[in-house]
Amino acid sequence: MNIVITGASKGIGFELAKIFAKDSDNTVIAIARSENKLQDLKNECIKQNLKSKLKFIVFDIENPEKVKNELKNEINKHINTIDILINNAGFLINKPFTDTSTHEIIKTFNVNFMSHSVLIQDLIPMLKEGNIKHVVNISSMGGFQGSSKFSGLSFYSSAKAALASLTECLAEEFKNENIKFNCLALGAVNTEMLKTAFPDYEAPLSANEMAKFIADFALNGSKYFNGKIIPVSLSTP
Ligand SMILES: NC(=O)c1ccc[n+]([C@@H]2O[C@H](COP(=O)([O-])OP(=O)(O)OC[C@H]3O[C@@H](n4cnc5c(N)ncnc54)[C@H](OP(=O)(O)O)[C@@H]3O)[C@@H](O)[C@H]2O)c1
Repeated sequence: MNIVITGASKGIGFELAKIFAKDSDNTVIAIARSENKLQDLKNECIKQNLKSKLKFIVFDIENPEKVKNELKNEINKHINTIDILINNAGFLINKPFTDTSTHEIIKTFNVNFMSHSVLIQDLIPMLKEGNIKHVVNISSMGGFQGSSKFSGLSFYSSAKAALASLTECLAEEFKNENIKFNCLALGAVNTEMLKTAFPDYEAPLSANEMAKFIADFALNGSKYFNGKIIPVSLSTP
């Protein structure tokens, strides 16, 4: 299988890439900004499986125009079709609504929503070939309608809600193609993102535990779900 994962240099994406790279039949394309962390990921993958076919692409997805013109070409250097696309890269700042700058608002929407949207647009032709393909968008409980909200996460949660809504729309628009779109609205997971935003909060799950669930869902969920926004949380909204 060919699997593309954004935000794979640390946290949940790092663990996801490692899980998929255990299978020598998988070509995993890991995307993030930090070259040294992606190199560490590659080294860890080779340590666990000498035949690992993980490739990494150093790319900043903050500018959707750049994503539109360049990222697909970078991916195409390694693979021509995609079986699983996991839009996992995310950016969170915890700031009161009125203190958030326009730049911060735009960055939050670009990294969490806009760039994933244009990447999906560009990759649609690569997702149309052959068997059923699965696009998994990683959202948050903050963006899940009716969940209890965290003060300070207005823009992050709104961007995640946009990604969830896009998932439903794409499932409808491509319902006659072999592409399934689903969205996982994650609850808290112990990663750098959570620690930076909420230093005193201890989440019930590790990045590896959440990644195991997401990997299994990415592989098997397209048989059962399309256009669904699924809360992955121990607490009730
Ligand atoms: N942890 C939680 O409690 C939690 C809860 C709900 C949802 N989520 C969602 O789960 C996903 C993974 O989060 P995580 O907790 O694993 O976060 P993390 O440890 O902070 O990892 C985020 C990943 O996104 C990448 N990234 C951030 N900005 C980027 C940019 N401009 N261009 C390219 N890559 C970028 C980072 O890589 P570089 O810094 O190397 O670029 C990193 O690989 C996110 O979408 C997050 O919103 C997390």
